Amino acid sequence: MEFPEIMSQLIQRLAVPAIAAPQTALLPTLKQSVTVTFDYQVHFTFDLFNPTNDLLRSVLNPNPDGAATNFIVVVDGGLLTVLPNLVTQIQAYADRYADTINLKITPLVIVGGETIKNDPAQVPIVQQLIHDVGLCRHSYVVAIGGGALLDLVGYAAATAHRGIRLVRVPTTVLAQDDSGVGVKNGVNAFGKKNFLGTFTPPYAVINDGAFLVNLPQRDWIAGIAEAIKVALIKDAPFFKWLCANAEALVQRDLGIMQQLIYRSCQHHLTHIGTYGDPFEMGSSRPLDFGHWSAHRLEHLTNYRLRHGEAVAIGMAIDSTYSYLSGAIDEAGWRQIIQLLQTFGFALTVPELVEFVDQPEHPQSVFRGLSEFREHLGGELTLMLLRDIGVGFEVHQVDIGLYQQAIGLLAGGFD
Ligand SMILES: NC(=O)c1ccc[n+]([C@@H]2O[C@H](COP(=O)([O-])OP(=O)(O)OC[C@H]3O[C@@H](n4cnc5c(N)ncnc54)[C@H](O)[C@@H]3O)[C@@H](O)[C@H]2O)c1
Ligand SMILES: [Zn+2]
Repeated sequence: MEFPEIMSQLIQRLAVPAIAAPQTALLPTLKQSVTVTFDYQVHFTFDLFNPTNDLLRSVLNPNPDGAATNFIVVVDGGLLTVLPNLVTQIQAYADRYADTINLKITPLVIVGGETIKNDPAQVPIVQQLIHDVGLCRHSYVVAIGGGALLDLVGYAAATAHRGIRLVRVPTTVLAQDDSGVGVKNGVNAFGKKNFLGTFTPPYAVINDGAFLVNLPQRDWIAGIAEAIKVALIKDAPFFKWLCANAEALVQRDLGIMQQLIYRSCQHHLTHIGTYGDPFEMGSSRPLDFGHWSAHRLEHLTNYRLRHGEAVAIGMAIDSTYSYLSGAIDEAGWRQIIQLLQTFGFALTVPELVEFVDQPEHPQSVFRGLSEFREHLGGELTLMLLRDIGVGFEVHQVDIGLYQQAIGLLAGGFD
């Protein structure tokens, strides 16, 4: 046989017999609804690693008769400047409860602060450790530190094995009253804040007041901004309480601070649990009052501003805009500005003003509006204030009025 003939026979043999086209259009769509419930507790304690305090042990292993649970610890390096014995203490604690909890390796120390969220090398360090010690999904990563470290370690834990249990031990006011109790984690990438991350609720959160005792004043104050935020959008009596206790807070009254943290946590948890959108599928993000400009200012100032400090400026901007647009009255607006000033928050920075007249400029704060919309998806949705304790949403803004608001804040007050 000639080669072409062989080929033709072969092709005929291999040819799939013609069949009628599958009638896919007639097959009904398959549907499934998946409901997943997350339960997590936010504990309040004092002196977590005191050997007599068995809270962490009971969180990691509620059933002491069973096998010991495996865990690793990642510690914020900033903590060691004020608590140089912390790693030894953690090790001693783990030794004390070694029959029920198994610390797989000496705690990993990672420098704290926003720089780690900007450094792509950091997440793999934590993932590598999880890999090296062989943690499974029933093991735990205990993250101890400020909001930046918790965000980073949370992201690493959420992505290793598609999710290892995370116990957060927040050690700044901001992390205790806001970031540590929520369901988000992440790191910065491509010049954008929190560009990479997941929505993953923690297994548990432990707020230890003792960590706040030596917290630098700057971070003690910065975290108060997030409490003011929930008060402004949800809780007028809490705002009044903050005004009444502002001086005591500035003077570092720990008892008052713990009350602030507790109330703020309640608001954040209630919001997550009852607002109906814990993973932010919609376009609305009420808890991000003041945040469209805050995230932008963190970036524009090269993270010279703490998150809380940027939020304070962001709230001043959106409160002033609310006033200028006639939504909130002058008395209410002045009370807000006054409270922010009592805490010593700056209401402006040069980077805010520099390109305020050029909204399209790459360094303009107004780029924050489109980034905010893009991060959420859907329609631009911003929270403004109708009154203290009463937020409402808008989908369009008047840039001219925002420029006026920013100018007013930059000009100072009589
Ligand atoms: N996941 C969320 O929902 C969410 C919400 C709000 C903010 N955040 C994020 O949280 C971060 C800000 O967190 P932050 O305000 O805690 O700042 P931070 O984590 O940057 O910590 C500030 C500094 O304090 C140090 N530190 C931490 N605890 C200390 C202690 N007890 N004593 C002394 N020093 C201590 C850190 O090393 C760091 O240098 C930002 O990245 C922000 O985006 C996340
Ligand atoms: Zn915030």
